[in-house]
Amino acid sequence: MHAIAIDGDRLTWTPAPDPAPGPDEVVIRVAAAGINRADLLQRKGQYPPPPGASEVLGMECSGVIDAVGADVGRWRVGDEVCALLAGGGYAERVAVPAVQVLPVPGGVDLIDAAGLPEVACTVWSTVVMAGRAQRGETLLVHGGTGGIGTFAIQLGVALGLRVMVTAGSAAGRQRCLDLGAERVVDYHDEDFVEVARELTDGRGVDVVLDVIGAKYLQRNVSALATLGRLTIIGMQGGAKAELDLGALLTKRATVLGTTLRSRPVTGRGSKADIVAEVEHQVWPLVASGAIRPVIGARMPITEAAAAHAALDSGSAPGGKVLLTVP
Ligand SMILES: NC(=O)c1ccc[n+]([C@@H]2O[C@H](COP(=O)([O-])OP(=O)(O)OC[C@H]3O[C@@H](n4cnc5c(N)ncnc54)[C@H](OP(=O)(O)O)[C@@H]3O)[C@@H](O)[C@H]2O)c1
Repeated sequence: MHAIAIDGDRLTWTPAPDPAPGPDEVVIRVAAAGINRADLLQRKGQYPPPPGASEVLGMECSGVIDAVGADVGRWRVGDEVCALLAGGGYAERVAVPAVQVLPVPGGVDLIDAAGLPEVACTVWSTVVMAGRAQRGETLLVHGGTGGIGTFAIQLGVALGLRVMVTAGSAAGRQRCLDLGAERVVDYHDEDFVEVARELTDGRGVDVVLDVIGAKYLQRNVSALATLGRLTIIGMQGGAKAELDLGALLTKRATVLGTTLRSRPVTGRGSKADIVAEVEHQVWPLVASGAIRPVIGARMPITEAAAAHAALDSGSAPGGKVLLTVP
């Protein structure tokens, strides 16, 4: 088979060893791989794959099952699926634990399904499982235009949350409103803390989904309501910050950080638990049309470097960018 190899500044489509399924794994013939910001970091050597995972880039894909391990009962050769991967998606074939595989949700094209596993599992595990968001509460999503943000807006609305987001461009802000956000803050010119208070009659928001990290830490805590939950999943604005703990204590608020990729495959807090919840709770919302994959672009996998450059420079369209595999 072929896979993307990192060759200095270049990403090349190169012959690679064919994966065989372990007893609990399936092999997927990849139709498309979703690009994630973490792929850019991995390429620079800043985000190594977990021990034992493929060194090939790619944390999610869609495709057709090609081989099934001896202990796998659920999946059959020929099933159309998508999957959360620890690595290996930028390839013609990838081996993955069967518990990280999901059916393609009803009404979703096989290629577009590649853009769902990472955002669905990240947003569900963060906003609902860790953040305990409840119907009627207010959710602040930073980066409403991105892969994570476009999914979080739709999930929030579908769950009956009031959704407020931040976005940088006029076109991006309009896209967030179209997806159902109640209020979109221009992060260049407006103060999201003030807007959060205005929107909630001074109470503050109940849950924040944050992709910025250090730069927003203090202001995120200021935007929280009493008993609010700040969930941090990205560090686009740095990793180290100071926090006035007084505000945290007075509000009895929670600050938590989480990653998906480093979680165990099975057991407590595992990928298997998250994938199972996503299939039962989120896939029906996708099949009903309440949540749609937001795909900014499809590009051939041989153009992976150009797709990364667009994401890195901020010139990529909003939503997910997918790499299609011939
Ligand atoms: N912990 C985990 O398990 C996990 C899993 C998946 C993703 N992540 C992280 O989540 C982050 C978002 O991922 P993604 O796939 O959505 O990336 P993406 O599609 O590249 O989107 C990045 C987003 O960041 C926004 N942004 C940039 N500067 C901002 C600022 N100062 N204030 C508010 N928003 C700002 C952008 O908004 P504009 O376009 O409007 O500028 C854009 O919406 C990444 O850092 C990624 O590594 C973490």
